[in-house]
Amino acid sequence: MASRIKTPLPQIAPDHGARHVAIIMDGNGRWAKKRLLPRIAGHRAGVDAVRRIARVARELGLECLTLYAFSSENWKRPAEEVSDLMGLLRHFIQADLEEFHANGVRLQVIGDYRVLEPSLVDLIEGAMTRTAGNDGPTIAIALNYGAQDELVRMAQTLARQVQAGEISADAIGRAQVEAALDTASLPPLDLLIRTSGELRLSNFMLWQAAYAELYFTDTLWPDFDGEALARALAAFKQRDRRFGGL
Ligand code: FPP
Repeated sequence: MASRIKTPLPQIAPDHGARHVAIIMDGNGRWAKKRLLPRIAGHRAGVDAVRRIARVARELGLECLTLYAFSSENWKRPAEEVSDLMGLLRHFIQADLEEFHANGVRLQVIGDYRVLEPSLVDLIEGAMTRTAGNDGPTIAIALNYGAQDELVRMAQTLARQVQAGEISADAIGRAQVEAALDTASLPPLDLLIRTSGELRLSNFMLWQAAYAELYFTDTLWPDFDGEALARALAAFKQRDRRFGGL
């Protein structure tokens, strides 16, 4: 992290007020295409961008950074690309875990990751356990994540609690819903960034985004860096967040 690469950041006071930033990392394929490279090269460059951003999270005053790495819809991609992405993820955890740990990062995964290949599930759970006691920032990787799927799983969790007589249906409110979401241990989402010029949420954090500020940039994910994140935070700082009030 900061020990290995020092990215000069534009002046952004840590009083921007954003605790939790989430990013839809889009544009790896187009980045590769522009260079006449295979899509996997774009994803590899995307992992480098993940490393750059993870390294500046603390410096930029963030408590949590959530990154959309693999959606529940990404299984529709060709098997070779799915396998490449899983391989990159596996390598990323193996290669970077100790550096994250040494820098106090807490690694989390949101999404239905338990259906992944058992050795990858073990690796993920080992990484989360190893870093669980760290004081942050939290890097949450969204893996086999879809917000609609998360909401279905939340409904099942609460239904089971009602069925077991642990709570009554009338006792279900926003707090109970939030406690049953994958993001239960993460701070409220403040800023949602999407790279590469697409203007949609693609089934990402639909509950959590209710009052998040949205920031879209044409920058392709592999070109995104600490300076781009600082620019997004500077834009966030200018927003007038009223949460439905005046
Ligand atoms: C979108 O680009 C990107 C993805 C579907 C995967 C994002 C994955 C990474 C950045 C690498 C793995 C992450 C970690 C944390 C190790 P796209 O392929 O849809 O790009 P395109 O729209 O230009 O084709």
